[in-house]
Amino acid sequence: MTKKQTLLLGIESSCDETAAAVVKNGREIISNVVASQIESHKRFGGVVPEIASRHHVEQITLVIEEALEQAEVELDDLDAIAVTEGPGLVGALLIGVNAAKTLAFSHNLPLIGVHHIAGHIYANRFEKEMVFPLLALVVSGGHTELVLMRGHNQFEIIGETRDDAAGEAYDKVARSLGLSYPGGVQIDRLAKEGEDTFHFPRAMIDDPSYDFSFSGLKSAFINQLHNMRQKNLEPNPADMAASFQASVVDVLVTKTIRAAKEYQVKQLLLAGGVAANQGLRAALIQEAETELPNVELLIPPLSLCGDNAAMIAAAGTASFKEGKRSSLAMNAEPGLLFDDI
Ligand code: KG4
Ligand code: ZN
Repeated sequence: MTKKQTLLLGIESSCDETAAAVVKNGREIISNVVASQIESHKRFGGVVPEIASRHHVEQITLVIEEALEQAEVELDDLDAIAVTEGPGLVGALLIGVNAAKTLAFSHNLPLIGVHHIAGHIYANRFEKEMVFPLLALVVSGGHTELVLMRGHNQFEIIGETRDDAAGEAYDKVARSLGLSYPGGVQIDRLAKEGEDTFHFPRAMIDDPSYDFSFSGLKSAFINQLHNMRQKNLEPNPADMAASFQASVVDVLVTKTIRAAKEYQVKQLLLAGGVAANQGLRAALIQEAETELPNVELLIPPLSLCGDNAAMIAAAGTASFKEGKRSSLAMNAEPGLLFDDI
């Protein structure tokens, strides 16, 4: 007898993307619709929560309908609905959570609250099956964490940033160079054309903990820019970008490789918006090849690095299979911790 397939609708609205997706068996994308609001936030240099909420309200129904239509499934074909419960912007999260609760209630479907970062990690499951123990380097606009997983849905944070997230630092230095939001991808592009001439500090690289810190690097970058401009010198933006990126990548890769060795993991996963960074991807591939010959490296395709709902459905499927269900009293949790799910 063939095993019944599991079909989940995923919904994501934690920040500036309204997204819905249909995923089969937690590993196969049937549809993946993302409505980005970046253009609306650009002129403010960052995400404006009120504008984000308004866009989510306008888009959520259309995006869900589109995801179901593209997948050629009806709501009653689904096994469950997974939605980002947190962390994120409360007003933004609420739109997705309320849409999911309404559909779950009206179609009598199980509801599954998903941790946004769990989603980013599970984006790797579309590449290959997860093998435990694994270590995930999570680098996004709001998070920088090393997460150890000994099984599905078991998340242990072994290190995290003590101040800015990596993506946040990217966006802030990009802004100081006059680049538009979100600046991470533009710094990445510029970095390819420059050299590490400024040798910015590598914060906490030798610290025995697995924590990170990026605010000192961000200040060093901005101070360098101001000092030169005061002398009527304009630093080469490509060299500034390359120097900044070299510091971020050096620290992230060095500490990740060390942690992977200490915890003797079978897989190393890259996750989050900054996983799209070309310099980081290349350095991790190279270092893992020489330093971790017995560890399998998983990196999501570029299309699944940023926020999307397929990853939420993938993480939701793992919870669903373990029998986890959320109640219809579920609320948006802007500060949701891994321990809360
Ligand atoms: O995961 P994500 O889409 O949203 C959060 O959950 O925070 O991550 C967005 C972050 C932004 O800070 C953006 O600048 C950064 O990911 N990012 C990049 C690149 N592409 C996106 N940072 C560096 N290099 C990139 N290529
Ligand atoms: Zn994200």
